Amino acid sequence: MYRLHTHCRACGLGKPDISTLKFSVAAGNQEVPQKLMEVLDLGLMPLANDFCSQDQERAGYAPLKLLWCPRCTLGQLSVVVNPEIIYRNHYPYVTSPSKTMKDHFASLVSDLKAECETDLVVEIGSNDGTLLEFMQQNGFSKTYGVEPAENLANAALKRGINTVNDFFSAEVAQDIERVAGLPDLIIARHVFCHIDDWTHAIAAIDQLCGKETVVAIEVPYFIDTVKNGEWDQIYHEHLSYMTVKAMQAALKGSHLHVSKVLRYPIHGGAIVMILRRDDSEFAKTPLPVEYLDKSDLNTFAARALDRIAVLKKTVNELIEAGNTVVGYGASAKATQWIQSCGFTRKHIKWICDTTMFKQYKCAPGSDIPIVDEGALTRELPDYAVCFAWNFMSEIVAKEKIFKAHGGRWINPNADIEVAPRG
Ligand code: TMP
Repeated sequence: MYRLHTHCRACGLGKPDISTLKFSVAAGNQEVPQKLMEVLDLGLMPLANDFCSQDQERAGYAPLKLLWCPRCTLGQLSVVVNPEIIYRNHYPYVTSPSKTMKDHFASLVSDLKAECETDLVVEIGSNDGTLLEFMQQNGFSKTYGVEPAENLANAALKRGINTVNDFFSAEVAQDIERVAGLPDLIIARHVFCHIDDWTHAIAAIDQLCGKETVVAIEVPYFIDTVKNGEWDQIYHEHLSYMTVKAMQAALKGSHLHVSKVLRYPIHGGAIVMILRRDDSEFAKTPLPVEYLDKSDLNTFAARALDRIAVLKKTVNELIEAGNTVVGYGASAKATQWIQSCGFTRKHIKWICDTTMFKQYKCAPGSDIPIVDEGALTRELPDYAVCFAWNFMSEIVAKEKIFKAHGGRWINPNADIEVAPRG
């Protein structure tokens, strides 16, 4: 199901170097080779998006440990779960149709149009085609998606978005070039950190780039994740936790460089790294100066354990006082909180979610039922833990009836203050 990951995916730190070892032995050098450092060990965890029906076989558990490279600052997991298990058959994560996401797409696409021509865009990890459809409606004349999950590729095809159902690879890049030519823009939103073999992925992207092709890679920004204590971004799909410095290390040996970095508030803080070919005529813009050291990561880890303890205590006290507590948003982050707090359906009665692929399934590990969004107004529980905290203002504004009947929200990712039921 998984294998160990022991050296830095971006800069190679920790890779056994035969020539150095020989030299060290010959010189009698007892120095321990530099290696990745451990930040946070969350133990065995289920796969965060393994939503199953009652009778379906669960994928199982794998260790979840965050490591950090002191040389290039990339965060990374200690294991790689087989991507065929996570993504191929039925991947339930669907690009959010929310207003928050639509607003993000609007500013992203407007920023990208200032960077490149708008004839052909290729999206890596195109999900159900939501972004490409938006791009078609906003000036990009041709779109091409690559998506490994069959259910999502089919959903995109149904809405008329040209999609190849596969993992992105050198072979897929070659096919795209043959059929459609070299794109003006290659976009990869929240997918690059899901890829294990960056050498292959970067070579395939490189091969698909014309002289002025723009590559836009959107990732959660590890600097924000650490600063804001967003520990619940750590799950098996997120193999890497990205900084610009790490990306620069990963691009060494390719013909690409980071030319510009754009920042967005989506998903708790994201960056879009604009990559261009080294022979591009476009001038580079100054890149952000990043500060991240082991003490920041130690603070982050301590804060994570503290936040888990606080939510666990809060929910237990509410239950003991006779309240009903539910979850809102069956995000991958929900799985992390529920498992780390040891919640069962005794604590969180159900979780409601708009995603059709998740509804009437069970949450990974806990088997807490996932229900439709209307449950909040139908059942009017006392408290709702908003596991989709990255959409919280939109959700709170939408769920007026819950609030009007005295329901209270809990944001697990903030310093929790639980107001008594109104
Ligand atoms: P994400 O943070 O990983 O994108 O997941 C957010 C989850 O929250 C996703 O499963 C969809 C769900 N959701 C709702 O149920 N209602 C909403 O209004 C929004 C914005 C998201």
